[in-house]
Amino acid sequence: MQDFNGKVALITGAASGIGYAIAEVLGESGAALSLVDIEAGALAKVEHEFLARGWSVLSQTADVSSFDAVHAAVKSTVHRFGRIDIICNNAGVGLEGPVESWTDAGWSWVLGVNLMGVVNGVRAATPFFKAQNSGHILNVASIGGLTAAANHGQYGASKFAVVGLSQSLRDELAPHGVGVTVLCPGFVKSRIATSARNAPGDLPARQAWLMETGFTGPAKELFQMIERRVDTGLDARAVGEMALRGLRTNAFIVLTEREFLPDIERRQKAVAKAIAVLGQWPTQPQAQAQTHG
Ligand SMILES: NC(=O)c1ccc[n+]([C@@H]2O[C@H](COP(=O)([O-])OP(=O)(O)OC[C@H]3O[C@@H](n4cnc5c(N)ncnc54)[C@H](O)[C@@H]3O)[C@@H](O)[C@H]2O)c1
Repeated sequence: MQDFNGKVALITGAASGIGYAIAEVLGESGAALSLVDIEAGALAKVEHEFLARGWSVLSQTADVSSFDAVHAAVKSTVHRFGRIDIICNNAGVGLEGPVESWTDAGWSWVLGVNLMGVVNGVRAATPFFKAQNSGHILNVASIGGLTAAANHGQYGASKFAVVGLSQSLRDELAPHGVGVTVLCPGFVKSRIATSARNAPGDLPARQAWLMETGFTGPAKELFQMIERRVDTGLDARAVGEMALRGLRTNAFIVLTEREFLPDIERRQKAVAKAIAVLGQWPTQPQAQAQTHG
């Protein structure tokens, strides 16, 4: 998609950080904006700011982990603007901790927002894109969707899933004129370190307790490192601009920094080693099955 003038973009998690920045660069490029977030107060402020800049804006409070809520937001967008051209499935939350800290509620929250939020956006928008024979899905994963860190299993699993889903969708939807891009940022200044503010039930209190007293050693160091690195990370604005370039070029993956390349290469080397080992087997599994059959 080369020209965003007159296009309609729905962005989830638009009230803060990376979502706000993507909305801002799209607004500056002439797109009408449909802003979705779970935080009504923060969203109202952003809507007010963008309207004052003379942009066409619709804002809707919704929890992306609910398909019905996301579907309603997409339908209202089409009702208001007559079409939808871009869906940016950006809303996401951070949840760290070693295996002993895992709970059903934690897994359900992180997968509900980070994975099902993306699934719901894709499900809701794709019928409109197919009918138009055009559109673009911009999913926000993370560098944590390409390489994994210890004590980061929950977040990492959700983000690896988003990268895999995006690859599948890219091949599935290309014949319908629909592009798919997955943004994999490193550390970016945002409010992600306080994501538990939006967690349901007693998760916020539990998470706060874990941060304060729950863990020592590597898990504690990871919490502290993430907080520090997010505070000193890239400006979200720069990430928004990189995302826009990804949309323009229909890039599959957009990376935002070089720091994590050695980690990605380490994983690629493990795959290359597995391929080499596979090459050493005298017979392939199918041939063996025939031999033993
Ligand atoms: N900041 C980083 O270092 C970083 C790095 C890699 C990937 N990311 C990803 O970027 C995306 C945006 O995060 P951010 O860093 O801007 O954090 P942020 O907390 O500043 O913004 C996230 C926004 O999503 C909203 N949100 C949370 N739960 C929601 C829900 N259930 N439904 C609707 N909206 C919800 C929040 O209210 C907030 O406005 C996330 O998917 C995150 O995983 C962030």
